[in-house]
Amino acid sequence: MLLRVTDGDSKMSEATLPRHVGIIMDGNGRWAEAHGRPRIEGHRVGAESVRDITRASRQLGIEALTLYAFSSQNWQRPADEVTGLMQLLRDFLIDERSEILDNGIRLQAIGDIDRLPAFVTEPLRELREVSAHNTGMTLTLALSYGGRESIARAAQAALRDAAAGALRPEELDVERLGSYLPTASLPPLDLLIRTSGEQRISNFMLWELAYAELVFIDVLWPEFRREHLARCLEQYAGRERRFGLTSAQLDSDIEAR
Ligand code: IPE
Ligand code: IPE
Ligand code: MG
Repeated sequence: MLLRVTDGDSKMSEATLPRHVGIIMDGNGRWAEAHGRPRIEGHRVGAESVRDITRASRQLGIEALTLYAFSSQNWQRPADEVTGLMQLLRDFLIDERSEILDNGIRLQAIGDIDRLPAFVTEPLRELREVSAHNTGMTLTLALSYGGRESIARAAQAALRDAAAGALRPEELDVERLGSYLPTASLPPLDLLIRTSGEQRISNFMLWELAYAELVFIDVLWPEFRREHLARCLEQYAGRERRFGLTSAQLDSDIEAR
């Protein structure tokens, strides 16, 4: 299958298009180093990639795009890099506001948002509110986010319900625990992309990754553009997702339809 994702393309109606794509946007620092520039410049150019990939995903008809922008562990980076990243985040929210609204995108965020500075949470809150009823695509920013932290918070919420008498321990099955996660309202995660060549998860969406297809691409995030996304989508389209079944079972399932 050949995917074309140039500006003129209309929505793709391929059955093999993932509904929900998550991206670990990695390699900004290495890109900056390779160009003899400070790390923050890598993050700045990386914001351009976010714009292009968001736009392309919307045009392709992907329902949900979740971007790992800042991890719980990234707080431990040098203070000037953290501050620079927060400023870029604010710039992104302000600069992209009209593009997001004009394209019917719903913006949301997952993670420990309260740890972010007010100059980020303010425009974030405003954009979440005004875009809440959009139905075009859900763009989720994972900010101050960790997969383990997210599961721990879900467990805390479940325990609170149990203590209030609203949940019995035996009712806490996979589906019920999943309902406490901040991703509960999104389609299941179909495809995870990590740029930069690293092959690890780094605490991203641990629960949601259970049956996602993983694609690792050796391109640094500031250079990642829609043609690279297209390559990742092609890899995804070529995979057989078995969910624990056999190939034969899947074939008979298709025939029965
Ligand atoms: C990803 O790029 C952006 C964030 C983690 C915020 P990095 O800053 O991790 O870039 P490398 O991995 O050092 O190249
Ligand atoms: C993961 O990248 C976090 C984000 C992309 C936001 P890191 O660069 O922080 O991960 P490690 O340190 O390589 O595992
Ligand atoms: Mg990194």
